[in-house]
Amino acid sequence: MEAINLATKDRLLTLLIANKGKYSSGEEIASELNISRTAVWKAVKSLKDAGYKIDAVQNKGYSLIDENDILSYQGVKKYLSKQYTSIDLNVVASIDSTNKKVREMAIEGAKEGYTVIAASQTMGRGRRGRSFYSPKDTGVYLSILLRPKNYTPEQATRITTMAAVAVCEAIESISPEKAMIKWVNDIFIDNKKVCGILTEGAIDLETHYLDYAVLGIGINVYYPEGGFPEEIENTAGAVFKHVEDDCKNKIAAAILNNFMKYYLSDSVTEYTSRYKERNLAIGKDITILVGNSKTKAKAVDIDDDCHLIVRYDNGETEALSSGEISIRL
Ligand code: BTN
Repeated sequence: MEAINLATKDRLLTLLIANKGKYSSGEEIASELNISRTAVWKAVKSLKDAGYKIDAVQNKGYSLIDENDILSYQGVKKYLSKQYTSIDLNVVASIDSTNKKVREMAIEGAKEGYTVIAASQTMGRGRRGRSFYSPKDTGVYLSILLRPKNYTPEQATRITTMAAVAVCEAIESISPEKAMIKWVNDIFIDNKKVCGILTEGAIDLETHYLDYAVLGIGINVYYPEGGFPEEIENTAGAVFKHVEDDCKNKIAAAILNNFMKYYLSDSVTEYTSRYKERNLAIGKDITILVGNSKTKAKAVDIDDDCHLIVRYDNGETEALSSGEISIRL
């Protein structure tokens, strides 16, 4: 795992973020960080090499300019609500899969809230054994370790559906877009998928409750340079068309803030009504995909457990607790 943070560079970034909009002279930075002027210069260079846009003006000093959008530990932490700042947050430039890493940490006994956020993945995992396209610098890929008390495997769907609402609200807090949910957990803007969610878990064989769950969320913040790969170019989209200031850190923190609020709440009714309001499937003709089989049905409603109520052509109805649908347009 390649860490974004390195001691001096890291401390300089914290200082520049705290002073955003102002210039800090080399002398001030040197004294604040207790390092030499040469070390300041080297740290500025290594931040620039990492992609940060830093304005350097003679007699004024250094300032982070407004078009920076790079994921960082400090950047995410800045927007995290106070009650969640104790989350064990790890931000990395690249990893094979954040879900895989968090799963390994769960097995080693990491605490609930252990989080890995990556700017790219080399082996991002999707649902139904698919891969999840996770290119460098245009998305946010994050996984959170959860250790819910007394959740049956069926109740694990709650984690996914809470996350779907949390992501939609995070998108809407930083952009003018309206985010919708395709049951169970794909997030769409203008009929394009901008986010996928994969919850993986382990069952305690004695209690039959969840031992832990890994909630993984991958969001396309921007369009990748050169576009999406052919197999998803007609279905995938992104939240923004142009670079916005600090959006990746903002969206990562907003997702964590929103999700933890719902997850730690005693009431499930608040998020279930929001989940229902945003659903794309209700009233539409759908195809239900289970393994290799495809069944046609009509999506009639979503119940209070976020199950999809479907009516088959023979008139029978069923409440689906998990699975995948495609919406017939
Ligand atoms: C899907 O739409 O098929 C679900 C995609 C889930 C992707 C996320 S990205 C962060 C986390 N780590 C992974 O390897 N997968 C999930």
